[in-house]
Amino acid sequence: MKVLITGKNGQLGSELQRSCPDNIEIQCFDSQSLDITDIAMVNEILISFSPDIVINAAAYTAVDKAESDIDAAYAVNQMGAANLATACKAINAKLIHISTDFVFDGTKTTPYVSADATNPLGVYGASKLAGEQAVSRILGSQAIIVRTAWVYSQFGNNFVKTMLRLMSEKEQLGVVYDQVGTPTWAAGLANMLWALVQKSSDKAEETRDKIQVTSNKAEEAREKLQVASNKAEEARYKIQVASNKAEEARYKIQDARDKVGAESKTLNQTTILNWTDAGVASWYDFAVAIQELAIEQGLLNKAIPISAIPASSYPTPAKRPAFSIINKTEAEELTGVKTIHWRAQLKSMLQALEAEKVKVESDK
Ligand SMILES: NC(=O)c1ccc[n+]([C@@H]2O[C@H](COP(=O)([O-])OP(=O)(O)OC[C@H]3O[C@@H](n4cnc5c(N)ncnc54)[C@H](OP(=O)(O)O)[C@@H]3O)[C@@H](O)[C@H]2O)c1
Repeated sequence: MKVLITGKNGQLGSELQRSCPDNIEIQCFDSQSLDITDIAMVNEILISFSPDIVINAAAYTAVDKAESDIDAAYAVNQMGAANLATACKAINAKLIHISTDFVFDGTKTTPYVSADATNPLGVYGASKLAGEQAVSRILGSQAIIVRTAWVYSQFGNNFVKTMLRLMSEKEQLGVVYDQVGTPTWAAGLANMLWALVQKSSDKAEETRDKIQVTSNKAEEAREKLQVASNKAEEARYKIQVASNKAEEARYKIQDARDKVGAESKTLNQTTILNWTDAGVASWYDFAVAIQELAIEQGLLNKAIPISAIPASSYPTPAKRPAFSIINKTEAEELTGVKTIHWRAQLKSMLQALEAEKVKVESDK
């Protein structure tokens, strides 16, 4: 199977490359080699590589900057996604499009499910939602949208790396306590996406088989109807019996047709899945855990006081949802991958960061 990955130097793109299973051939592009806002480039590359699946890990992710850089955010997050979807449709490839919890306003108090009403609070969320809608409109069931949140990785810039830097430079820190969500290690997200890639090709096969079985049944029922009506011709006294059988067969045909119809209906819809690590945290909880585990890991040598502050004391250009917890059950069931608690994932990421630091130092 061939998979094309956009945004290869981002947090997720880097993790996807690192964890690609052996049976999958990947071709990965950065924003220079495949600018998703450039429709001609998108078409040319997708046609020449002809992937079975495209994973769109490219996005305009500067949440605050997007508030004043609206056109650029929409160009990548909406038009870029639409360009990929159009090219995928032309070459009959599946698209796994990554999206965000920022499509929600955070006013819920129980975990968001994919069917919940969207209501982005800022430009980034609105542009990502517009991208989801374009993908869904163009590709229907040929696309899967995966919403994630609070992503960090040893690659690129993120909250964990910013905290490590600030904790080594400052005497104290204030971190927001009244926004809650679940941190997501990009390596865990990549692992789930690879399982999804494997499953979605199995599932397509399974659905095709189911439709085949259903239409075989319809054919079988039609043949029975023929036999029944032949019998009716042969003997008058059997007419009544035969017509009863014919009626029964007709019901079977209708039933089989309904089943085929139901299958096609599901096929027209884009699956939306959610994925973060397990558990719940505020940014404050997350920062405290980063400091504790980084000291344990030898990445920091002293603890500084961290105080919990309200979001109102840390104004940002973009408003963020106060509640960002999403329900991962469907993705877990579909892929067979279980979410791991965010603290355990954070520990693994810090270990990877430490191993890299040791390697860089020993290479010097
Ligand atoms: N980070 C989070 O906390 C978070 C939360 C929720 C959802 N998500 C979603 O998760 C996905 C992956 O995010 P991430 O954190 O891995 O993002 P990231 O580290 O910011 O990487 C995004 C990548 O997209 C590339 N890109 C930007 N414009 C492009 C264009 N026009 N054509 C091709 N590539 C382009 C960037 O390349 P350059 O560096 O060359 O510009 C960058 O490598 C995104 O869909 C994002 O919206 C992220």
